[in-house]
Amino acid sequence: MSKKRYERPIISKHYSGLMNKFGTKTLNSPKPDIEGIPVKHLVENYGSPLFVITESKIRQNQRDALRIFKTRYPKVQFAWSYKTNYLDAVCAVFHQEGSIAEVVSEFEYDKARHLGIKGEDIIFNGPDKSKAALLKAIKEGARIHIDHFDELYDIIEITDTNNLKANVAIRVNMDVGVYPKWDRFGFNYENGEAWQALKRILANKNLNLVGLHTHVGTYMMSSEAYRIAASALVALAKGLKNELDVNLDYIDLGGGFASHNTLIGQYLPAEEVVPSFEDFADAISTGLFELQLRPDEMPTLILETGRALVDNAGYLLSTVIANKRLSNGRRAIIIDAGVNILFTGFWYKHKISPAQEGGAHPEEASMFGPLCMNIDVIRESITLPSLRKGDKLVIEDVGAYDMTQWMQFISMRPNVVMIMEDGSIELIRKAETLEYLLQQELLPAKLSIK
Ligand SMILES: Cc1ncc(COP(=O)(O)O)c(C=O)c1O
Repeated sequence: MSKKRYERPIISKHYSGLMNKFGTKTLNSPKPDIEGIPVKHLVENYGSPLFVITESKIRQNQRDALRIFKTRYPKVQFAWSYKTNYLDAVCAVFHQEGSIAEVVSEFEYDKARHLGIKGEDIIFNGPDKSKAALLKAIKEGARIHIDHFDELYDIIEITDTNNLKANVAIRVNMDVGVYPKWDRFGFNYENGEAWQALKRILANKNLNLVGLHTHVGTYMMSSEAYRIAASALVALAKGLKNELDVNLDYIDLGGGFASHNTLIGQYLPAEEVVPSFEDFADAISTGLFELQLRPDEMPTLILETGRALVDNAGYLLSTVIANKRLSNGRRAIIIDAGVNILFTGFWYKHKISPAQEGGAHPEEASMFGPLCMNIDVIRESITLPSLRKGDKLVIEDVGAYDMTQWMQFISMRPNVVMIMEDGSIELIRKAETLEYLLQQELLPAKLSIK
């Protein structure tokens, strides 16, 4: 029998009506492993903090979502949203599952090409496409989703001068009943701008209009917004068909489905308030069926879902650096993962569980990262059992946006491993080192102090 750990006694105030005589419940029971691999083993071999991604969860998420959409609308194509997580290994799993690529910059475009994705299987979104990037993408047959008139004029000039044809779509924004409106991207539907853009495209012999696109927002909690968006794009598609005899290859409804992370300030846990994939699929297919076309004439539905497909496939393992008391007596825990690598900590209340059995008495605490910066707050308030220096924690649902928005600030980015379907572990991004950083720096000779 192992010796029981010593716990410093604490006095905690009981608020009548809010909790019973046993105190608050520990929210999360220990999570000692990720898909059967002990947290201790992962940290001993790859360091702490450590990002862990599970291949099987990604595949499962993608297959489930595709099945749900395909049972409601016959032609569905997923496009992996690179900005959500563009680690090669992650993108490759999505591509193996049949996703094409959705990129929003030349860098992301080049990353997809380097992975072996053909130009024609890349959707090029975003407001910033240089002429050089457009020329390359047009030559390689990518689908350019035009964001504004200046981009349209650039494309007309490039195709004219180089005698090229471009496959294009326009991004459309509309009022979907969720505010503030995302009207800074694309052409507006209600004021007729989108229709104007379509007519200008169709008047140009070098432009091949292949689709319509929208992305109504992110972490969307309203499935109705997607019905409205689908319905607006369908109205444009009907106009194209009836007035100009144009059939579209696809309607792209973007991404934005909320994941199961709970937002800061959200009272109920995400699982209880976020619509399911079924809800989103019902709403979208209802909107699309307003097209009233024969099945063989129906456009493909493209989805650029990011966070909802990858968030729960990512974990961040961290180690307790210290316990302390703030000046008002409040418990504080300092861990070795800061907001520089957990950017989503600014808007999510991540689920955080100890990796080992802890003390018997849960106590509320503030959890801080290791940075010498006041903003480095991982959780303002979390109730956990007592933890000792060196104890491990598992931060869940970090697969989306953390590994792209992370910054090298005060400390460098850590290792990322993938737990493969067969249970093996692969290092998929090496921890950064001083040498890595210095490769990019240049010291003018006169400043040398050696
Ligand atoms: C054009 C576009 N498509 C797809 C996405 C993915 O969104 P999400 O991760 O919320 O599904 C984004 C993210 O903002 C986007 O801007």
